Amino acid sequence: MKPILLEIPERFETERLLISNYEEGDGNEFYQLIRSNYDYLREEISEIHTLEEIEDAEEYVRLRRVAWLSRERFVPKIVHRARGRMIGQLWIEPKWDRMIFEIGYFIEEKSQGNGYVTEAVKRMIQFLFTGLDASKLEIHTKASNSRSIGIALRCGFAKEAQLRERGRTSAGEAVDLQIYGLLRREFLQWS
Ligand SMILES: CC(C)(COP(=O)(O)OP(=O)(O)OC[C@H]1O[C@@H](n2cnc3c(N)ncnc32)[C@H](O)[C@@H]1OP(=O)(O)O)[C@@H](O)C(=O)NCCC(=O)NCCS
Repeated sequence: MKPILLEIPERFETERLLISNYEEGDGNEFYQLIRSNYDYLREEISEIHTLEEIEDAEEYVRLRRVAWLSRERFVPKIVHRARGRMIGQLWIEPKWDRMIFEIGYFIEEKSQGNGYVTEAVKRMIQFLFTGLDASKLEIHTKASNSRSIGIALRCGFAKEAQLRERGRTSAGEAVDLQIYGLLRREFLQWS
């Protein structure tokens, strides 16, 4: 299987959201999004520390765009369709040899609590199993991140592991991680 030959759309729509590959010029909007949510995101989204200028953000979105095209990973922006602006991001990391995909996410603080991320993740789950024949999906999260765990559970993932003191806070404190998994056969049973 040659991932580069796979037909993979660059845009997905849900009732409220557009989930799509970054485009050149998105750096400014992405920069505003992360800067205005810096304190809220910095513990979980380590790469935002490196985005000091708009130029860094433009480089970031262009590199993510290229990574999508080369099938290295898929990092779509989440756009609120009615508001016409970016509210978050997904991160999908493939392990092509086993067709396992790890999913990550963030959403701006003021848009939390509306089910947007669950909606986006469910759309990508559907694509990964039906469009890409994924065998398994995983979500890795700090054990203390109850909102992240809530997304995994709402999307039908089962808790598979607690990795003791495997993660680090930004202050260097060791914390437990958890892994949640969704198997292809579970998805097929429920859909
Ligand atoms: C983790 C994170 C993405 C969770 O965001 P979230 O808004 O809680 O998740 P969702 O968008 O799926 O919304 C779910 C919430 O909306 C509520 N909700 C409202 N309408 C809903 C709907 N139509 N469908 C589903 N949930 C809905 C749910 O009840 C839930 O609220 P609750 O947790 O108080 O019960 C967010 O906290 C975040 O970006 N944190 C910083 C980055 C981070 O931690 N990323 C994860 C690293 S592993």
